[in-house]
Amino acid sequence: MIARIQEIAASVPPTGDLAADTDRLFRHYGREITREHVPRAAAEAKRLALRFGVDSEQAEVAALLHDIGGVFRRSEMVELCERLGFAVEPEERQVPLLLHAKLSVMLAQVWQDITDPAVLQAVRYHTTLHAQATPLDQVVFLADKLEWDQGGIPPYHADLSAALEDGLDAGTRWMLGWMATPAAKLLIPHPDLRAAWAAYGISTAETDR
Ligand SMILES: [Fe+2]
Ligand SMILES: [Fe+2]
Repeated sequence: MIARIQEIAASVPPTGDLAADTDRLFRHYGREITREHVPRAAAEAKRLALRFGVDSEQAEVAALLHDIGGVFRRSEMVELCERLGFAVEPEERQVPLLLHAKLSVMLAQVWQDITDPAVLQAVRYHTTLHAQATPLDQVVFLADKLEWDQGGIPPYHADLSAALEDGLDAGTRWMLGWMATPAAKLLIPHPDLRAAWAAYGISTAETDR
């Protein structure tokens, strides 16, 4: 199992420069959109961390690693996660790309020897957040949203930035609320996202933003 993970890890040997390593990894696997997105997200994560009193090094490392699981083929994600012993949710079977965050965690451990549980947790929940998000989780989640990978400036950028004026929790709540609206065009709400909505008291009927 791990052969596939090790194959990828070995294809781009770590140099000690994580930003350069992730850049080479995405280039090696032709993930040009992600390659362009990740350094932006990492810079944003560092800014948010410094602003909100979160460890900026943990934030930057987590953000650099958050999408590395995207180098796996979508068609192999479900089987790989099963063989790694991860529970695969029905929503993840329907939308295998949701598994990229779990695979990022696995690859971060094997490829870069990352052991910090706080960093790995922030990587794990960067897409959806979860019910008990730490400030580090929030920073990486919001950095990924502010510096998104869909081209141009996200439609919610100004509103999210305004919400962040009231703090990290306010920004997180605003973003989760937006993700509950039709504008988010979610393919399917992941169970972790539903747990985050519940934790923040967000109703999915919150459509008139
Ligand atoms: Fe992602
Ligand atoms: Fe991302």
